[in-house]
Amino acid sequence: MSEIWQVDQLIPGGDGMARLADGRVGFVAGAFPGDRVKVGRVAEHKSWVRAEEWSLHEPSPARVSPPCALAGECGGCEWMALSRTAQIVGKSSLVRQALRRTGGLTDLPETVPVRTAGGDLGYRNRLRLHVDASGHLGLFARGSHRLVEIPACPVSDPRITEVLTRLRQLATPSVLARWQEIEIRVAPLGPPVSLWMLPRHERAPSAEESALAKRLAQEWQVVEAGASGEDQRWPLPGGVELWVPPGGFVQVNWSVDTALVEALMAGVKERGIESFVELYAGSGNFTLPLLRAGLRGVAVEHAGASIRAARRAARAQQLSDDVFVSGDAARELRRRAKPAPDLVLLDPPRDGARDVVPALLAASPRWVAFCACDPVTLARDVKSLSKAYALDSVVAFDMFPHTHHVETLLWLRQRS
Ligand SMILES: C[S@@+](CC[C@H](N)C(=O)[O-])C[C@H]1O[C@@H](n2cnc3c(N)ncnc32)[C@H](O)[C@@H]1O
Repeated sequence: MSEIWQVDQLIPGGDGMARLADGRVGFVAGAFPGDRVKVGRVAEHKSWVRAEEWSLHEPSPARVSPPCALAGECGGCEWMALSRTAQIVGKSSLVRQALRRTGGLTDLPETVPVRTAGGDLGYRNRLRLHVDASGHLGLFARGSHRLVEIPACPVSDPRITEVLTRLRQLATPSVLARWQEIEIRVAPLGPPVSLWMLPRHERAPSAEESALAKRLAQEWQVVEAGASGEDQRWPLPGGVELWVPPGGFVQVNWSVDTALVEALMAGVKERGIESFVELYAGSGNFTLPLLRAGLRGVAVEHAGASIRAARRAARAQQLSDDVFVSGDAARELRRRAKPAPDLVLLDPPRDGARDVVPALLAASPRWVAFCACDPVTLARDVKSLSKAYALDSVVAFDMFPHTHHVETLLWLRQRS
């Protein structure tokens, strides 16, 4: 097969899609709307065809020169060669497609708004690097476990690139190979730089490896997985601070996170909400502003270290620390469903909150707010609530510029 396809759409997952002459759709990983691509080897299915080999026949006018030399190779930013305007249009369409096709929603706005905040470069406050067995440090190539060494990362805070450079100066690859992952995280309220390092083996460190860890600790906070360290701190709307332990979850993009938390708080105020159960709470990114605004509630999170940091932050800021509960989201919601809170707020990981749906229906809150980083699993969960809940509003947030990833804040109201 050697055909020219006209790509006209981006689909959830980030690939380009073309409509083929035989009525099927064609998927092209790495192609953008407006591209004409010459397709070689394909994988075929009754209703779709996937291009396994393709080349660019005529580039889309929305293509730009990417601001990173490794954009085509590193799996981190697969939309970097697409203009920012086209990225935003693409994200709006991904969220709408998922909610319509998978979620079965028919009352969607014509265009799902996408909020941006801050810059599209230097936005990442954390970067988790892989280290291979030879001590090379980098990110995986798209759709593979092949390591791409990165000298710098333009979408990360410049201090992260400085740490990368310094790490390579201080450590030989054979010593770096002690670890399989290193997360570099920077925080505005300190400690300014923290390294979380996951060892490759269980064995005790060699003298050389211990010496390196000590040397690194002279410059930054350095914590091996399983050990504890000082919480890093970020400012949140409402004048509260978020405290996050080494290795604990924190949103990647602080300007956009701030816009997201502000949007949630505005939604809570608009709807006159006074009580909440929050699931997947992390270290209290939403909980602490909710408490500061005077709401009553419970926040559930299964990572013990995150919950302990949330409690420390609450105590230090004269807020109630017994709000934070360590446990599984579905199990805790079943236990805490009565009396029904005004709001159940969920911010699940990528695979969604399928397990929580029965307990959510039993709890029967007036409002449900989902914050989700995968539009397809969000749509699946919304669909399973749709007999009892209707769409109230949906806004997307460009938390991850230059990638196909998008965060969505979606409100559901109980049907009367
Ligand atoms: C996307 S993060 C959101 C955290 C927080 N809302 C924030 O904005 O920082 C999802 C969180 O859910 C937690 N988690 C995952 N599965 C869980 C479960 N079954 N029960 C409770 N928490 C869970 C993870 O540890 C992680 O902290």
